[in-house]
Amino acid sequence: MHITKAMASFIHWLPFLLILAVAHRPHVPKTFNVLSYGALPDRKTDNSKAFLRAWKDACERDGGGRVWIPRGRFMLGSVVFVGPCKGPVDFIIRGMLDASSDPSTFFVDHWICFKYVDRLIVRGGGYLLGNGGSAWRFNDCATNSRCKPLPVTMRFDFVTNSKVNHIHSIDSKNAHFNLFACHNMNMSHIHILAPATSPNTDGIHIGSSTKIKIQNSVISTGDDCISMIAGSQDILVSNVQCGPGHGFSIGSLGGSHNEEHVNHITIQNSTLTGTQNGLRIKTWAPSPPSLASDITFEDIIMENVNNPIFIDQQYCPQPPCNGQAQSNVQIKNVTFRKVHGTSSSKIAVKMQCSKHVPCEGVNLVNINLEYRGPEGHVASSCLNVKGKSYGLQNPSGCL
Ligand SMILES: *[C@@H]1O[C@H](CO)[C@@H](O)[C@H](O)[C@H]1NC(C)=O
Ligand SMILES: *[C@@H]1O[C@H](CO)[C@@H](O)[C@H](O)[C@H]1NC(C)=O
Ligand SMILES: *[C@@H]1O[C@H](CO)[C@@H](O)[C@H](O)[C@H]1NC(C)=O
Repeated sequence: MHITKAMASFIHWLPFLLILAVAHRPHVPKTFNVLSYGALPDRKTDNSKAFLRAWKDACERDGGGRVWIPRGRFMLGSVVFVGPCKGPVDFIIRGMLDASSDPSTFFVDHWICFKYVDRLIVRGGGYLLGNGGSAWRFNDCATNSRCKPLPVTMRFDFVTNSKVNHIHSIDSKNAHFNLFACHNMNMSHIHILAPATSPNTDGIHIGSSTKIKIQNSVISTGDDCISMIAGSQDILVSNVQCGPGHGFSIGSLGGSHNEEHVNHITIQNSTLTGTQNGLRIKTWAPSPPSLASDITFEDIIMENVNNPIFIDQQYCPQPPCNGQAQSNVQIKNVTFRKVHGTSSSKIAVKMQCSKHVPCEGVNLVNINLEYRGPEGHVASSCLNVKGKSYGLQNPSGCL
C-alpha cells in the first residue's frame, strides 16, 4: 500500500490526538443527586435502587464523588453502600430518610450500612428516622422470649479515615450507630433521640475499632449513650451530653473466649442527666480472661444519675450467666477525675471487682457526688479494688 505524506503525518500524530481526545472527554460531574436516579421524596416509594445507583457512580468516579440527598422525605429500605471506592466519597443528607415500618423487613442487621469504605464523609444536617415505634416490641427480650434483633440505623463495617458530622438519628429500631472494625473515624455534632423506654437503642456502639473520636454531641436514648465492647482501643469521647439513657459503658466484656483487649479510652468534659448509670465498666460473670486498661473519665458532671461510678464484674441480667461466679477480665489503670454532681441512689461509687483478678491501679481524684434522697448519707461500696484516692472524696471510704 502506498502511504501518502498526509497519512504518514496522521499516523505520526495519532498518539497525541488520542491523548487530546481523552483529556477532552466530557468531565464526569462530581455530584450524584439521588433525584437524577429516580428517587421520589413521597415517603412511600422504596428508594433503595436509586440510592445504590447514585452511590455506585460516586464511588466509581476517579478522584471521588458526592452523593447528594436533597431536602424532602425519602423512604429507604435496607441498603449496603460498599467500597472500596476510587476516591473519597461525601454522602450528604440534607433531607430526611424514613426506615420501613413493615414488620416483614425488620429482621436484618442494618438499615443503612457502609462497608469497606476509606475517606467517607457522612454529613449534611439531615435526619435518619428509624421508626422504631413500629418495632421495639419485637426485640424487647425482657418481655418477649422470642425476641429477634432489629436493624441498626447506621452501621459502619471496615470504614477507615472517615467522618460523620451533623446528622440526626431519631427512634432507631436497635442501636443508632454501630462501628465495627473501623479505624480513624471522627464523629461530631451527632444528635440522637429515642424514648427512655425504647429497648436496645444504644446511641453509638463501638467494637473492634481503633482511633475513634466522638465530640460535641447530644444523646438521649433508651440504652447506653455510648458503649464500647471488645477491641475498642484509642477512643476519645468529649463534650457529649447524655440522658436519658444508660450512660457511658465499657462492656459488657468477657462474653466470649480470646476477646480483643480494650484500652486507651478517655471520656471527658461530658454531662449525664437522669441516666441509669454514669461511668460504667461491666464484665460478665463468669467470664474468660481478657484485659481492659488505661481508661480515664474526667471533667464529668452528673445530674440525678442512678449509678454514677460503677464497675460491675458480676454482670448477669438474666441466666444462663451466674452473678455469683467470678470474672477473669482484668481491669487495670482506671482514673475517675473531677466527677461532680448528684446521685439518685445512695451508693454513688460502686466497684464490684473480681475476686480472681482484682481491679488494679484505680484512681479516684476529686470526686464530689451528693445524694439528697431519703436513705441518708451518700456512700461507696468497693470490693476487690486496689488503688488510690486523691483530693476531695465524697463519698469517701472506697480506696
Ligand atoms: C480526627 O481528628 C484528629 C485530630 O483530633 C485528626 O488527627 C485526624 O486526622 C482526624 N481524622 C479524620 C478522618 O478526619
Ligand atoms: C467542655 O464543654 C463545654 C460545653 O459543654 C464547652 O463549652 C467547652 O469548650 C468544653 N471544653 C473542652 C476543653 O473541650
Ligand atoms: C494509665 O493510663 C493512662 C491513660 O489513661 C496513661 O497515660 C498512663 O500511662 C497509664 N499508666 C500506667 C502506669 O500504665
